[in-house]
Amino acid sequence: MAANPDKKILITGGAGFIGSHVVRLFVNKYPQYQIVNLDALTYAGNLENLSDIEDKPNYRFEKGDITDGEFVHSFFEKEQFDGVLHLAAESHVDRSIKNPMAFIVTNVMGTVNLLNAAKEAWKDQPEGKRFHHISTDEVYGSLDDGGYFLESTSYDPKSPYSASKASSDHFVRAYHNTYKLPVVLTNCSNNYGPNQFPEKLIPLFINNIRHNKPLPVYGKGENVRDWIYVIDHARALDTVFHQGEDGATYNVGGFNEWKNIDLIRVMCRVMDRKLDRAEGSSEELITYVKDRAGHDLRYAIDSTKVMEELGWKPSLQFEEGIEKTIDWYLENTAWLDRVTSGSYQEYYKEHYQ
Ligand code: NAD
Ligand code: DAU
Repeated sequence: MAANPDKKILITGGAGFIGSHVVRLFVNKYPQYQIVNLDALTYAGNLENLSDIEDKPNYRFEKGDITDGEFVHSFFEKEQFDGVLHLAAESHVDRSIKNPMAFIVTNVMGTVNLLNAAKEAWKDQPEGKRFHHISTDEVYGSLDDGGYFLESTSYDPKSPYSASKASSDHFVRAYHNTYKLPVVLTNCSNNYGPNQFPEKLIPLFINNIRHNKPLPVYGKGENVRDWIYVIDHARALDTVFHQGEDGATYNVGGFNEWKNIDLIRVMCRVMDRKLDRAEGSSEELITYVKDRAGHDLRYAIDSTKVMEELGWKPSLQFEEGIEKTIDWYLENTAWLDRVTSGSYQEYYKEHYQ
């Protein structure tokens, strides 16, 4: 989609972790666009993530639920969007194991509501329009020791979360094939960075170290994830949204694999230094707990296509990214304390004790 002036772009899930970085990038980089952030503000959505740009003239927030088909339909009719970046989702694997239905409703039905609304709104003039579906590497399943996920890798989702995302990806491709809806898809690896809800590994462990609480490592900590700094992911979405080929999929990752336990040890060392604690004291908090049910062993994504065809590449080395990330959480303890008050405490108790 060309970066023409006067485009109205919908970003769903813009109050969440990745969405807030995408909204900020688009609002600052494209002052000529109107950016509309649609978010239901679930436990994971937080407008505080966007306080620095909330008064910009090219930005607007709309509270709304993508599972409400009638609302989504009339919203599209009224707003006449030129493009959509769809990030709104239930995103935490552990929650999907406890309550799969919420993931089917939001991730599958919510996505189909948006596809229907875009199909209807763009039926007479699909040229210049684009629906960008933001998905995950987890749709490809779990790797043993060798190999990478390619765009051509068969889908093999193994958790209710990844099954719901895989289903939504299939619907996006089906709408492209059947109705010629202009779409692009991206499948990304594990993101880390500022504003991530502290139910996910990195912010959870930073917060627990801060409070001298146990660090609950699932199983033996041998699972491997491929980590990418969230702003690099946002830059990749910008690149694919504007330059990606119609109907194409692009894998996005950091070529940065870490065994959980090794990553946790790095975090512990950095935290000891930042908090002026004796070397090794954070590592003493490591506690091995019952493994996640059906825990995928390894994810590793090959992002050669987006790098070679569209010229994107990650900008940060992991060592720099994790320092920046830890600094952000330590400088924003009020944010951490606010998002972990209330219902988070009940979730934590129920899940970990
Ligand atoms: P997040 O949980 O931090 O944010 C999700 C946002 O969606 C929240 O603001 C929430 O309020 C909103 N939302 C949820 N249900 C909604 C509904 N029914 N209607 C409107 N808004 C709703 O998630 P995230 O980690 O930022 O992930 C964003 C997207 O990127 C998701 O689609 C996820 O599958 C995908 N993704 C995430 C990662 C990762 O590592 N976090 C990696 C690859 C892909
Ligand atoms: O790969 C992309 C995916 O990465 C995204 O699609 C998901 O939205 C995102 O949540 C993330 O999924 P993971 O399950 O990999 O992330 P999480 O942070 O929950 O866990 C990372 C690893 O750490 C995983 O192997 C499980 C482990 N873990 C996690 C938690 C929360 C623990 O050992 N202990 C924990 O308490």
